[in-house]
Amino acid sequence: MHIFNQGKYKSLHAQAAGELAAVRDVVLQDKDFRPTYHLAAPTGLLNDPNGLIFDGEHYHIFYQWFPYDAMHGMKHWKHYITRDFRTFHEGDMLIPDERFESHGCYSGGAILWQDNIVAFYTGNVRRASDNQRVPHQNMAIFDKSGKLLEKRCIISEPPAGYTEHVRDPKPFITPEGKIRFVVGAQRNDLTGTALLYEMDDLNSTPRLLSELAVEAFDNQNVFMWECPDLFQLGGKEVFVWSPQGKNREAYQYQNNFHAVYALGKLVGSSLQTDQIDELDYGFDFYAPQTIENSDRILVGWVGLPDLQYPTDRYKWHSMLTLPRKLSLQNGKIYQQPLVEMGERETLHLAGEQPIADLDTCYLQISVENRPLVLDFFRNSQGQTLRLRYDDGVLSLDRTATEQTEIMAKFGSVRQCKLARLDKLELFFDRSVVEIFVNDGEKVLTSRFFIAERENVLISENTVEIEIAKVRAITYK
Ligand code: FRU
Repeated sequence: MHIFNQGKYKSLHAQAAGELAAVRDVVLQDKDFRPTYHLAAPTGLLNDPNGLIFDGEHYHIFYQWFPYDAMHGMKHWKHYITRDFRTFHEGDMLIPDERFESHGCYSGGAILWQDNIVAFYTGNVRRASDNQRVPHQNMAIFDKSGKLLEKRCIISEPPAGYTEHVRDPKPFITPEGKIRFVVGAQRNDLTGTALLYEMDDLNSTPRLLSELAVEAFDNQNVFMWECPDLFQLGGKEVFVWSPQGKNREAYQYQNNFHAVYALGKLVGSSLQTDQIDELDYGFDFYAPQTIENSDRILVGWVGLPDLQYPTDRYKWHSMLTLPRKLSLQNGKIYQQPLVEMGERETLHLAGEQPIADLDTCYLQISVENRPLVLDFFRNSQGQTLRLRYDDGVLSLDRTATEQTEIMAKFGSVRQCKLARLDKLELFFDRSVVEIFVNDGEKVLTSRFFIAERENVLISENTVEIEIAKVRAITYK
């Protein structure tokens, strides 16, 4: 049943014959930018990772998906299942077809409950009479094979004191066996916060416990907290979320919106923080969510709300990051990519060097805290991507690459301060680079657009580089 399909709020149930295949034909015209080992949508716009869960054998990875174009329209949950993050097959999607999700299945997380995967998500609903948004919090139950068994609404309006912006529930199970979820919210005074709810089991009514307070977080101008996630790591409590509205600072909060973590001790519903930092210092990173197996693994969206990319002309938009294992070191979160690589080759580079498949390679650079200027790629228009380290500042400069107006509006250099720089690891995948600094002390995730590029690397000084191939992922 599809009950609402107008304009951009069109679900897959309402597609015309051949409509998606026609969009796919446009996507396949892109010969420059489609990634090979990052999870990207077959067509249209991908945004937040959702419902991440390890079912004991497989990982289930869902993401926000608008299938028809590179724009935010009717959101579905696309569903992939994998053992190893390399081979993926599809599970049942969430396709909006109930009144409690009439304008899209928005973000959320999942738990394993009695051998099923129970996803909590926000139903985006606009009231027919006045188009007012009324967020619903919903539940979708899948079996481990990925089959959708049931969907239902558990909360049909925002609680008193909060606006229409209450979304992105992330559930977890307490040591006492209760279900709790944390959900992003906006207070009536238009400031951002998160709410904690509790349920005894799947059939009980969610009780609002309180707001989650994050001590020492400067919430000035922050109007919404999106995509909260609360978990334990190395004996501490970690809160990850995407606050909107923070002021730009010289070396921090340089994008339009941000993904942040706070680390400390949860006392009641207040997080006493030891450390607050951005999770990523690149141009394009937002709305991360974690999966628990014996480790804690984080996946983010290589993108941000309100951004347009050059690939939008090919009717596809962005991708997910590589999975990253989190650890606690020196009181901070470190992130290490979980990727299998081929054999490594060592190069001593000076000047200009062609490198086969550079745009889908892993590079490890020993910097030993010396100044560095590296230019990656080149095309006939003189486009290139520059990485520089000098005086304790690492910068990624995409000024000389193709940018849309909105990309350029937020500046074309990203910087990150470091006490010292020993090691850089770069994962290039055609129009994305993930840069891991000092074994995951900092990460910079960025898109870059250089069409018809030559795979060359140019360095002023001699540098030692290890290089390896990264295998493409396959979809079955
Ligand atoms: C974050 C976000 C979420 C929302 C979803 C809609 O990027 O805005 O808050 O649930 O995207 O696609």
